[in-house]
Amino acid sequence: MNLYHLLEEITTRPEPFSCYTAEALWTNEHTSRQMLAYHLNGDVDISSRRTEFIDRSVDWIVDFFNVGAETAIADFGCGPGLYTSRLARHGAQVTGIDFSERSLDYAGETAAREGLAIDYVRGNYLSLAIDRRFDLILMIMCDYCALSPVQRRSLLHKFRELLNPGGAVLLDVYSLAAIESREETSVFAGNLLDGFWSPNPYFGFLTTFVYPAEKVVLDKYTIIEAERTRVIYNWLQYFSQTSIAEEFTRAGFLVDAVFSDVAGTPITSDSLEFAVVARRA
Ligand SMILES: C[S@@+](CC[C@H](N)C(=O)[O-])C[C@H]1O[C@@H](n2cnc3c(N)ncnc32)[C@H](O)[C@@H]1O
Repeated sequence: MNLYHLLEEITTRPEPFSCYTAEALWTNEHTSRQMLAYHLNGDVDISSRRTEFIDRSVDWIVDFFNVGAETAIADFGCGPGLYTSRLARHGAQVTGIDFSERSLDYAGETAAREGLAIDYVRGNYLSLAIDRRFDLILMIMCDYCALSPVQRRSLLHKFRELLNPGGAVLLDVYSLAAIESREETSVFAGNLLDGFWSPNPYFGFLTTFVYPAEKVVLDKYTIIEAERTRVIYNWLQYFSQTSIAEEFTRAGFLVDAVFSDVAGTPITSDSLEFAVVARRA
């Protein structure tokens, strides 16, 4: 492809949520290794939140949802099991779901070492059939925001089916306050993000598109290696308390409580993220 056409492709604004490439980001041999390193770095909020927060969050979850030996919990997008391990140490019956083999290997090794009976299931949570029922479903670190409206609707219906009577969902999302600081930009660099995308030399473009009407932002990465070109679409939906409540209500839930985060911090108007507790209506 000549350079003009390549640049045209890179800078053309796609329809919101027109491509879903999450699997390519999280399961690629090289990028999954980088992601695992971020998950396990307890001092940064990348891939997982920092250790101090996760400890506080799990303590709050245990308290708020009365987690005990009878509580069946599913963690959608559990990564290397930072929440599942802690919840299992509190005695809960925990299932972790993720499509990253590398993260689940790490999670499984932790569970084996500590004798924790956690069930790890590898697969895409959008399509995976799950035959168990849960008292609590978690989806933590704003993963819900990466999904299209259609995917979100189908996932919430799945959550509803998977919950025992009285069961709850806890998930977090980006707020409208957070979209205020997003701008349309274009960045080009050799080995963009210091080699995050490949162990081989490459050129990377990051093109950011903002969709004000839809409250959506796309970070589109075009990674050009000698042998191949990849495009990764990182979509983010930003929510108001009203818009997320509408989605839950349409799927047969009642929003029970809203916090600033999944550690139960009270919400304020400038919270960049917020957490929602919803129960089967
Ligand atoms: C931002 S990380 C959060 C991990 C974990 N919740 C935490 O906070 O430590 C998102 C996780 O979700 C997984 N994931 C994303 N989309 C997924 C999908 N469609 N099916 C299964 N796992 C998915 C990724 O592999 C990754 O482990």
